[in-house]
Amino acid sequence: MSSEAAIQVRGLSKAFPIYSKPHHRLLQMISPGPKDRWYREFRALRNIDLNISRGETVGIVGRNGSGKSTLLQLICGTLTPSAGEIQVNGRIAALLELGAGFNPEFTGRENVFLNATVLGLKHAEIVEKFDEIAAFADIGDFIDQPVKSYSSGMYVRLAFAVAINVSPEILVVDEALSVGDEGFQRKCFARIDAIRDSGATVLFVSHSASTVVDLCDRAILLDRGELLAQGTPKYVVSRYQKLLYAPTDRVAQIREEIRESSAEAAGASRRLSSHAEPGVVSASDSPSVAPREEESQAYWEEGMVSSSTVVYENRGAVIEDPHLQTLDGNKVNVLVPGGTYVYAYKVRLERALVNVRCGMMIRSITGIEVGGAATSTPQGGVPVVEAGKMLNVRFRFRCLLTPGSYFLSAGVLATLGEGEEYIDRQIDVAMFRVMPAADRLATGFVDLDVVPQLSVAP
Ligand SMILES: Nc1ncnc2c1ncn2[C@@H]1O[C@H](COP(=O)(O)OP(=O)(O)OP(=O)(O)O)[C@@H](O)[C@H]1O
Ligand SMILES: [Mg+2]
Repeated sequence: MSSEAAIQVRGLSKAFPIYSKPHHRLLQMISPGPKDRWYREFRALRNIDLNISRGETVGIVGRNGSGKSTLLQLICGTLTPSAGEIQVNGRIAALLELGAGFNPEFTGRENVFLNATVLGLKHAEIVEKFDEIAAFADIGDFIDQPVKSYSSGMYVRLAFAVAINVSPEILVVDEALSVGDEGFQRKCFARIDAIRDSGATVLFVSHSASTVVDLCDRAILLDRGELLAQGTPKYVVSRYQKLLYAPTDRVAQIREEIRESSAEAAGASRRLSSHAEPGVVSASDSPSVAPREEESQAYWEEGMVSSSTVVYENRGAVIEDPHLQTLDGNKVNVLVPGGTYVYAYKVRLERALVNVRCGMMIRSITGIEVGGAATSTPQGGVPVVEAGKMLNVRFRFRCLLTPGSYFLSAGVLATLGEGEEYIDRQIDVAMFRVMPAADRLATGFVDLDVVPQLSVAP
């Protein structure tokens, strides 16, 4: 293995035995010859080739069950491969799924010592680092309680505090971070940054597209145990999302398209770079070879459907065809940050209405109202609209949202009896995504176009 490689994986496969009845496991254990098989094999990983250089930060994305955790466990040595080779060059600290690594009967303090010893630290070194670890975990007196009494958040805090305070050469994180609260997550990301800056290799699994784009030099996409694509985080994340939101009947075709374009990209990278390993797009040359025309402009991605839609009973008007479009009228649902778009829908009136106005709202995945607008003030609606008429509603807006997925709502209001009421209301009726942007500094939901300055005082 070259001295530059931190992790090298060749032809790696992992099959798990699946027993259709619990007692088959027992029968297998006592079965006399290799011909008696009481199980069938489930191939969680198939023939994976992967090279990770020293100092690289690599994100692994993929749908649930695609083999991400299995790959990390094989790399960390907590699982053994069914076929293939793994070579690891450097001291690995891993944060795998909850439950791995700690003994539940021991206290937090005892587990820190146990865990740090496994990670290769000497007793004196652990004593020296203990206060720092405990301070980072910040779980107070619980440090002297058995770990089995911890909440999942506390558990992750302690596990993470150990993993990142032992100065690992390779840090492997399996989504454990999503358990911690937001403050702790930020602290962890800051520490991961520092670990990375010190030259360590970081490998982590995340379902968050923006985290992968923000943090990683490179990303890989696993799908049903296959390494379907690798390249720049932007390229890989866009393929992953395409697969994630694909309608069931198109998944196979999209998978094939991704596979083909990645093979092309790998071929091009081989032609460009004499040291590139077969099938491997290295971080430095992938940007120029991965096909990414659509990443510079908004586009329509089939099958991106909101699964949280709530349609209220209408009272004489119906909202139809809510969608986003470009200024020249093309329907889109993947937007470029900073671009100008129109949120448009129609309203069919089944009865005459007075003081009619319409509204829109954009919500985050967690339901936070990020921004909305109405066509007029409560007093300024269209005075009278006859039954049978159609309203065209358009909201032009600049996409100041940070990358991520968002949901659109629509509402029609009119004066009924005493006051203003919803005549039709559809929540989360459509969804869209804002593309990841490289080198983005804005955090939160809205890009305030902040001009940051930092200078060192003389
Ligand atoms: N010990 C096991 N025995 C049998 N099957 C297993 C075992 N561990 C994992 N699998 C199967 O292997 C596949 C890959 O699992 P893995 O945990 O690696 O997925 P993942 O990509 O990490 O998913 P998630 O996003 O849900 O964490 C799954 O179908 C899972 O059911
Ligand atoms: Mg997993």
